[in-house]
Amino acid sequence: MLYIVDTANIEKIKHCIEFYPVAGVTTNPTIISREHSDFKGIITEIKNIIGPDRMFHIQLTGDTCDEMAKEAHALRDLIGENLYVKIPISPEGLKATMRLHKEGFHITETAIFTQQQALVAAKAGADFVAPYVNRLDNIISDGVNVVHEIVELFKLYDLSSKVLAASFKTAEQVHKISLVGCHAATVNPDILDTLIYHPLTMYAIDDFKADWKNVYGEKKIIDMI
Ligand code: E4P
Repeated sequence: MLYIVDTANIEKIKHCIEFYPVAGVTTNPTIISREHSDFKGIITEIKNIIGPDRMFHIQLTGDTCDEMAKEAHALRDLIGENLYVKIPISPEGLKATMRLHKEGFHITETAIFTQQQALVAAKAGADFVAPYVNRLDNIISDGVNVVHEIVELFKLYDLSSKVLAASFKTAEQVHKISLVGCHAATVNPDILDTLIYHPLTMYAIDDFKADWKNVYGEKKIIDMI
């Protein structure tokens, strides 16, 4: 499963890129607006930090297929081949998905809440579909089950589209979608930190250090070989 980081905060992206095996960055208009920064400046900075080998998912803001297509072309000129245009699912969004897919764009269909939205988006040419796990859980639906059924549908119909689960509030939700074969998860940096944290791990590391120091003092392996 790919781990992707769901933020436009430069310092947090740098932290995640340095310490975690991050496959890319996702943003949406809400995430970008939180930074209160110039749009072109911020996406250019993110592009430079993540480099050409990580995916960069940027959501379009146009309302019509034509508006979305213009934005997609302008973004690709700026970002390059690792751009994934995020398109919220709607009739105009699907029209844009079919058109941009034919033009060779990478597409992530977003704001997915049902299995059939995902299937239709995949048939339209979306590379990824992004179901919103926590928002589903919040309405007493079952986000993990929606992800699971989309994964199964893509297998059943031999579709190459992948599931990029989004909207997480807990590490438990991320764990559960990983168990059902979800291809990718986009998480905020705090969840990424939480995924690897365990107090027993901290105790174990402290014990190793203390036992070593008792015998070898401040020396490290490199000082003794
Ligand atoms: C993904 O890119 C989604 O836009 C995002 O994960 C939504 O998360 P939220 O439900 O926390 O706003």
